[in-house]
Amino acid sequence: MTTDIDQLQSELLAAVEGAADLAALEAVRVTALGKQGTVTGLLKTLGALSPEERQTTGPRIHSLREAVTEALATRKGALDREALDARLASETLDMSLPIGGLATGSVHPVSQVMEELAEIFADLGFAVATGPEIEDDWHNFTALNIPETHPARAMHDTFYFDEVDGEGRKMLLRTHTSPVQIRTMVGQKPPIRIIAPGRTYRSDSDATHTPMFHQVEGLVIDRGITMGHLKWTLETFVKAFFERDDIVLRLRPSYFPFTEPSMEVDVGYTRDKSGRRIIGGAEPDGWMEILGSGMVHRKVIEACDLDPNEWQGFAFGCGIDRLAMLKYGIDDLRAFFDGDLRWLRHYGFAALDVPTLAQGVGA
Ligand code: PHE
Repeated sequence: MTTDIDQLQSELLAAVEGAADLAALEAVRVTALGKQGTVTGLLKTLGALSPEERQTTGPRIHSLREAVTEALATRKGALDREALDARLASETLDMSLPIGGLATGSVHPVSQVMEELAEIFADLGFAVATGPEIEDDWHNFTALNIPETHPARAMHDTFYFDEVDGEGRKMLLRTHTSPVQIRTMVGQKPPIRIIAPGRTYRSDSDATHTPMFHQVEGLVIDRGITMGHLKWTLETFVKAFFERDDIVLRLRPSYFPFTEPSMEVDVGYTRDKSGRRIIGGAEPDGWMEILGSGMVHRKVIEACDLDPNEWQGFAFGCGIDRLAMLKYGIDDLRAFFDGDLRWLRHYGFAALDVPTLAQGVGA
């Protein structure tokens, strides 16, 4: 009996070791430990043995079963690893292949509008400029002629950091994209034509305000720039953006510390049959404010070490989220930043949907 068991064990262990793949290994397992298996058969004989025989033979049969079980597990681990290595060696993922029938991502309306703005203004000769979202109060306020006492500087409107920067300036989350005007004028020689789209932050939160929102700044600095250039640029931009020619703008006198004169710009809307407001129409039913603008204040030009008698210009600042809502008929601003995939699938854009002055987004 003992030699039978030893013999069986060495046969089975050799078979386990020799199993070339998982299917062969499974066959060995069934031969040994399956219902009709050899080891199972031996275990069944235990009941018929005398107590003395059981004492000597029982432990040997059990250790046989353990040895076979353990060998099977070890071999299975090795074969699994081999199979994985083989797969890794043979399968390659070609990242350049089109995704085909699989679900694809989409471009968020805010990113879409930023790309549209970049395209439209590129056609007008504007470059895209950027600046940091963590600003200092000189670029965000002081250089823009915003006095120390201005309410926009108040703690309850602006997110300040506890730290000051190396020059002792207060650090904050920029409250508008206008500091990019300063960075551009300080950093490069005129003539300047830039737009600066990006994130901005104010301590504000309700159905039409989120603490983080998006703006696009525009800046032109050159010799002999007038409000005529500003008006033409804004009209050309708004018509290209809303993809229709019958758009009327209304310019209202306003006040910003960094422009003089300053004006707010409204776009005319008409109502469709269901009463919905549609941007455009030669005879507007009403007006919606879309941006602030004006001629760059000479103090701002001086703060950037330029001579305001030589260099003039205009600037404008416009809420991107609002532009997206108006153009694509989205009513709740908060949904923009919820990250709800159903919303993104509905309002998202294909990667190539970018309009130019010559061709709208649908072309
Ligand atoms: N920075 C202003 C704002 O956030 C907008 C603006 C920009 C106005 C440039 C005039 C010129 O409200």
